[in-house]
Amino acid sequence: MSSIKENINTTKLPLHVAIIMDGNGRWAKTQGKPRVFGHKNGVVSVREVTEAAAELGIKFLTLYAFSTENWSRPTFEVNALMSLLVETVKNEVNTLMKNNIKLQAIGDLTKLPDKTRKALINGIEKTKLNDRMTLVLALNYSSRWEIVEAVKKISMEVSSGKLELENIDPNLFSDYLTTRNIPDPELMIRTSGERRISNYLLWQAAYAELYFTEVLWPDFRKEDFFKAIFDFQQRERRFGLISEQLQEVQ
Ligand code: FPP
Repeated sequence: MSSIKENINTTKLPLHVAIIMDGNGRWAKTQGKPRVFGHKNGVVSVREVTEAAAELGIKFLTLYAFSTENWSRPTFEVNALMSLLVETVKNEVNTLMKNNIKLQAIGDLTKLPDKTRKALINGIEKTKLNDRMTLVLALNYSSRWEIVEAVKKISMEVSSGKLELENIDPNLFSDYLTTRNIPDPELMIRTSGERRISNYLLWQAAYAELYFTEVLWPDFRKEDFFKAIFDFQQRERRFGLISEQLQEVQ
């Protein structure tokens, strides 16, 4: 069977792809199963996209695994998601090592249960020298939280005289975000037919191309990922310029 992968131009890949994995609950419902069943099957899709991204040569992949708003879900579901994270990170560390993939996390990790945080930190530590691709998990993450934290740190440095007001610009601001050292996402994918950004990488996605698909996250496979990359490559990214200006610089 032919794959859309063959039509992807590997010299024009997005450097960073960010994904909102949505639709686990609805997927489980279609099978008459509890929501957690959807999350468990979502892990298969996490593996698929990680492999697909690494195969293509994408350097950064960020997955929205748990938002600060997700704490308001039923306790049972929150606990199940936290356990699933521990289990997944533990189970996948060897595969990450074999494939030379570095694990990183963004978000307020201090609020995660001890077990989850420890498993995560252990995975990050073990894989820190890998350099083929970086897999970033957004955990207890929200953009508004991150931006407010950055403002607080900058304000403190200004009031203590460490930083001059005149030196604050978008580049400096980016250095105070949890994504410091991670390039901005060029493509943002959301599954399950929802068309929102939901407090995800708001600052970083300023110029990201948005891609929405009806596919529910547990059904998302390599081919769906390749389709999104191919779609991205058909778009003209203008960054505020006009088409003719882009042709001049090419
Ligand atoms: C959204 O579906 C999905 C989540 C809130 C959790 C995603 C988590 C995983 C796939 C599990 C593990 C992940 C990693 C990275 C180890 P939803 O519950 O909002 O679905 P719904 O909109 O249909 O209710």
